[in-house]
Amino acid sequence: MRRLAVATLDGNWEHDHTVPSRTLYPHQWSWDSAFIAIGLATARPDRAWRELRTLLAAQWADGRVPHIVFNPAPPIGSYFPGPGFWDSARAPGAPAAATSGIVQPPVHALAAWLAYRRTPSERSRTELAWLYPRLVAQQRYLTGRRDVGGAGLACLVHPWESGLDNSPAWDPPLATVPADEAVLRAYRRHDTAHADAAQRPTDLDYARYVALVDAYRAGRYGDDGLAGRHPFLVECPLFNTALGLAEHALAAIARAVGADPGPHRERAARITATLVDRLYDPATGAFHPRDLRTGRLVPARTALGLVPLALPDLPPRQVATVLAEACSPRFGLAARMDRPLPSHDRTAPDFEPLRYWRGPSWLNLDWLLWRGLRTHHRLDLAAGLRASMVELVATAGCHEYFHPDTGAGLGSPAFGWTAALLLDVLADESAVD
Ligand code: SER
Repeated sequence: MRRLAVATLDGNWEHDHTVPSRTLYPHQWSWDSAFIAIGLATARPDRAWRELRTLLAAQWADGRVPHIVFNPAPPIGSYFPGPGFWDSARAPGAPAAATSGIVQPPVHALAAWLAYRRTPSERSRTELAWLYPRLVAQQRYLTGRRDVGGAGLACLVHPWESGLDNSPAWDPPLATVPADEAVLRAYRRHDTAHADAAQRPTDLDYARYVALVDAYRAGRYGDDGLAGRHPFLVECPLFNTALGLAEHALAAIARAVGADPGPHRERAARITATLVDRLYDPATGAFHPRDLRTGRLVPARTALGLVPLALPDLPPRQVATVLAEACSPRFGLAARMDRPLPSHDRTAPDFEPLRYWRGPSWLNLDWLLWRGLRTHHRLDLAAGLRASMVELVATAGCHEYFHPDTGAGLGSPAFGWTAALLLDVLADESAVD
């Protein structure tokens, strides 16, 4: 399995970064690269640092790390929406490389810290020192210009920023985004040429995704006054968990590079407290996105609501209730799992076992939860989830996602973060079950 995973990462390596998939995603993606760096650190440490360096070299002047850095090599039209659609060159503070204008969950500081822990050499420390101020600037952007709600959490302006594009969590806030399917006729989706349309977001979703990029690009990706004009504004529990994990990781990185960890510790504590205050629903015992346009929590019970368990300072009450939610029939977490963990409540009427983030199992969600279970000393459940991750890849290979009942492989067959996170899990001696 280790050989398969390393071969998958080698096959997706592209001179200075790793593509998530040769067919579906032929450029560099932000949170994919972070997960990929974690796996590369176990097998190709030089590439782990190169991966993060390439991504952070495309950081914007305001600190945002773009969700896609476009590689000029693939033919124009190999991915939609491509560089021409995003048109980053006309935005103030954009880098020389063509990029998208939106962000993804900030898991990069955690990735850098884990890569350093795997290979704590002088070279690694130099890389860590190069990354540190850039990772700090990324946090400053997300908790500054992106704090639309004013409480200290980052606000998303597009479902793509969550990483879970078509999660049912985004249905209510997306419902009010004008959807003109005629808009799509001017463009051509490429994803459905490489993956079964039944496993991808719908055309209606894509019409809204395009409308949201149009709206953000029209303001040249500026964040001033978003509250009054932007049609999609949500605070996401997974994104903001990553924001908190980043401050914990930055505290450790600061210590390693001779900077002051104190401010990072304080910010981490504040983010966790605010997450509990704003996104926790005592009625479900889980976390939910907050739609800033209505002020309300989104009721869907998706895997997004479990991820705050990854925060080491999550209070015991929330740890207990999130664990209860994860172990309920909705998600089926157990010391011996009979089925993989789904991305959405499997008892919900809108659960779709084939369609992208509306049901299928994903290794990055498993991995975040697996880390949380170990952090909160639930080694029995951590071992169960780890066994489930290993079994998925052993049976179906390094697929992008998996059928949540049968474990059959879905989406791209050679997916970077599946390979990478499997390598991390396999390398972790303490997790051997
Ligand atoms: N996940 C999106 C896609 O499917 C882009 O970020 O293309």
